[in-house]
Amino acid sequence: MLRGREAELAEVARLLDQARAGRSGVLVLRGEAGIGKSALLDQLVRRACDVRVLRATGVEAEASLPFAGLQMLLRPALDRLGTLPAVQASALRGALGLAEATGTSRFLVGLAVLSLLSELAGERPVACLIDDAHWLDAASADALLFTARRVAADGVAMVFAARDEFDAPGLPELRLGGLDRTGSTFPINHNPEGKVQPCGESTSRASSPHPWKATSTWGISPTAPMRSP
Ligand SMILES: Nc1ncnc2c1ncn2[C@@H]1O[C@H](COP(=O)(O)OP(=O)(O)OP(=O)(O)O)[C@@H](O)[C@H]1O
Ligand SMILES: [Mg+2]
Repeated sequence: MLRGREAELAEVARLLDQARAGRSGVLVLRGEAGIGKSALLDQLVRRACDVRVLRATGVEAEASLPFAGLQMLLRPALDRLGTLPAVQASALRGALGLAEATGTSRFLVGLAVLSLLSELAGERPVACLIDDAHWLDAASADALLFTARRVAADGVAMVFAARDEFDAPGLPELRLGGLDRTGSTFPINHNPEGKVQPCGESTSRASSPHPWKATSTWGISPTAPMRSP
């Protein structure tokens, strides 16, 4: 269980409620390394049992590979490409290496992502969770920010978790500040292998073939804002 992030979790979870009600919402979750962005996304996923979750992480080593991040995000939805307008489907296929990229138009790729998410949200709400967005390749970041600026009444929740270097002008932000538990040992619900605990289940180290880390010493920057206990 996360400590001291109830307000932040409620704010992010509100996007899921909006998506369930057929409205889209976007949030950039910002904060320094180790402040708890990924942990908050993990908690959000646990509240999203009824939501289709698409998740990707920016990878520093792939930052120069155009559309690598987008491919990670959309991989589970590629079977829907046939529902898009042909010109958009073709652009997205080219971008993702599924067809020859004949002068891929980034505008059309952006439109295709928007159409694809919209199509998926027609069935059930969609959450797009993009972690470490500061390491996204530029082409993916452009397409996803293009989409984020346009999703409206589709039932899509988009959350970008990023450090300060991620540029997302015009999008609403939630900055994670530090908590006042410097050096404390926290019971956490975080899997070092990056897996998220399935919805509704409680942590059971005994039942896991890969025992999860049970505690973590979590320090904060001395410059981070402090909260009352
Ligand atoms: N509120 C919290 N309560 C308990 N543990 C926490 C909390 N926030 C973060 N942690 C733990 O602190 C560690 C760092 O958190 P996390 O990986 O979420 O940081 P981050 O902001 O995503 O950092 P980075 O920018 O490097 O990706 C993790 O082990 C996480 O489980
Ligand atoms: Mg992280």
